[in-house]
Amino acid sequence: MKINFKITTLLLLFMVSAISCEKKEEVEKQVNEETLTLKSAFSDDFFVGSAVNDNHINGKDTLALQLIGKEFNTLTPENIMKWMNIHPEENTFNYNMSDQYVALGEKNTMHIVGHTLVWHSQLAPYINTISDSATMAENLKSHINTIVGKYKGRIHSWDVVNEALNEDGTLRESIFLKVMGKDYINYAFQLAALADPAAELNYNDYNLWKPEKRAGVVQLVKDLQAKGTKIDGVGMQAHWSLEGPSLEDIENSIIAYSDLGVKVMFTELDITVLPNPWDLNGAAVEQSYEQFEGDPKMNPYPNTLPDSIQNKLAKRYEDIFNLFLKHKDKISRVTFWGVHDGQSWLNDWPIKGRTNHPLLFDRKLNPKKAYQQIIELKKQN
Ligand code: XIL
Repeated sequence: MKINFKITTLLLLFMVSAISCEKKEEVEKQVNEETLTLKSAFSDDFFVGSAVNDNHINGKDTLALQLIGKEFNTLTPENIMKWMNIHPEENTFNYNMSDQYVALGEKNTMHIVGHTLVWHSQLAPYINTISDSATMAENLKSHINTIVGKYKGRIHSWDVVNEALNEDGTLRESIFLKVMGKDYINYAFQLAALADPAAELNYNDYNLWKPEKRAGVVQLVKDLQAKGTKIDGVGMQAHWSLEGPSLEDIENSIIAYSDLGVKVMFTELDITVLPNPWDLNGAAVEQSYEQFEGDPKMNPYPNTLPDSIQNKLAKRYEDIFNLFLKHKDKISRVTFWGVHDGQSWLNDWPIKGRTNHPLLFDRKLNPKKAYQQIIELKKQN
């Protein structure tokens, strides 16, 4: 009888502790799910980040900074490291903002990206006056050696060359191509590799889902590889819309780049919800868009985004992240081009003064449905 009583007590104790263990796990799971953020949700998959502007970097925008620290584990400088800002004259380097940028990334233990070394846009004017190949090479050398060297071991990943291709996959007639010929690309990558052998070196461009442009990137990477030049990744900017590009085109590019043995990154993700001038009849891309400024037809959601469009945006982001997860073995980083809708460059490009809603956080910094849906995806996977 006594023995029986003991066994029953033991059994009871065992059952109670098993139940409470189960409960504990359930509570822990619940807490985890509730506190999931972008960086924690995708921590086994890829880095998730944001472009940062002057007021993030100088610490003035404290609200956005809190969000950045909570949600992201990689940063890209939206403008401050572009040639005209960091190296405006031949012998002038401005490190004030870039030092603060790197310190911000380090404070949050983030993967720090440098954007961008060689680009035809936002270039310092003195570069456009160079007309001989040797002088251009000297200037590329001074620019890349000095900046990559200064942040050696602290900037982990560089967009070495940005937007060197035309839409048909041929090389863009930039000042670098005109003066130095196509070898400027190889030269830039070699310089960056010498200045910081451990840094990740990438080619970055827009519309890289396009089959013709994809072929151009494949050729560019192969040419570098054939010369034994280090290239680690291809950055697809990903300035997309609700309608396009198709998931199939994006997927084909992910596979084509990854097949070259390089990493794939989505470096400037945003989804415009506004009409684009080039979708309108007769509006050529090279046309000025000033004619559309102030036109209410081109700015249909100046106050809030209607639910129907909010839902479309959420579905589009969900589909895109589903594809990213399918290819997570090939994708190393997904960076949004801005922290919240109020800070997106798409409010002023390609038409000034509009109200766009392309990111995961709204103007009050609240997560949108698209955010919830992306996090939900991870809970199910
Ligand atoms: C954009 C910035 O977001 C704007 O603030 C600036 O006025 C123009 O440049 N491709 C790139 C980015 O590689 O550097 C661009 O950033 C957007 C397109």
